[in-house]
Amino acid sequence: MRHLLSTEDLDVATATSLLDTADTLKQTLLGREVKKLPTLRGRTVVTLFYENSTRTRVSFEVAGKWMSADVINVSASSSSVGKGESLRDTALTLAAAGADCVIIRHPASGSAHRLAGWLDEAGTQVINAGDGMHEHPTQALLDAATLRERLGELAGRRIAIVGDLLHSRVARSNVHLLRTLGAEVVLVAPPTLVPAGAQHWGAEVRHELDPELPKLDAVMMLRVQAERMHGGFFPSAREYSIAYGLNEARLGMLPEHAVVLHPGPMLRGMEIAPAVADSPRAAITQQVSNGVHVRMAVLYHLLAGEEITA
Ligand code: CP
Repeated sequence: MRHLLSTEDLDVATATSLLDTADTLKQTLLGREVKKLPTLRGRTVVTLFYENSTRTRVSFEVAGKWMSADVINVSASSSSVGKGESLRDTALTLAAAGADCVIIRHPASGSAHRLAGWLDEAGTQVINAGDGMHEHPTQALLDAATLRERLGELAGRRIAIVGDLLHSRVARSNVHLLRTLGAEVVLVAPPTLVPAGAQHWGAEVRHELDPELPKLDAVMMLRVQAERMHGGFFPSAREYSIAYGLNEARLGMLPEHAVVLHPGPMLRGMEIAPAVADSPRAAITQQVSNGVHVRMAVLYHLLAGEEITA
């Protein structure tokens, strides 16, 4: 694997190998006071973020540091991007300064692919940490890792992705990966928040949540991305919450074993009720901690090019 740009590029063997590696790393570090492996000593990893992030940026930094890589964080607001430097010139500058890997988050869909094209010659590898409304592959990997921990193998499991599909890079990455791993995916959203072409993603599309709930093994609630809705939001926040919000009554309609996921950041009271987010059925903090191990696995596969065995 040269870059990680899309879960569409992961076949079942590669995806399973990444998830197994993440699990091995988690077990290896469990209970250790000093979480440090020498694996990526001497390698330089740069996070280049043009959009806000808490979970993804921090967990990539922790992942790199736990593997002894040198991790440098560049945010658009405090770099020469603020003086008008282009993405291409910024990327070539980072490669020339010695970056072995650039982890990019950018508001433009396709930006990670462009970056990979520009950096191929320099031998610098690229990880997509979220490009516009396109993909967020490491989010999907950490979601799959969490689902595997809670449910076992995912083949034959039925998983709903609910909410603002239109603006969601998480949804697209999850559909590709969950289907590769053999799960059935159902997308649930108001018609106004379903992207054109979603019916060709290989998932069922539904507009009512309640009839789906009793059939699910897991439900993934998406954040309503008001910052990408320049023309306003329909249905209204109140209507949305009534029809699609995961409240305690809806939690009761899920089978006992079903897991609740949310990629974060959450809008409590909008797409998910606080009591649901904080219930033991929700795996939201588990998703965040698995994010560190999954990102360690991705860095390892890209930069060391090997599988870790126990
Ligand atoms: N899930 C996710 O990408 O969160 P951040 O925006 O905080 O990184």
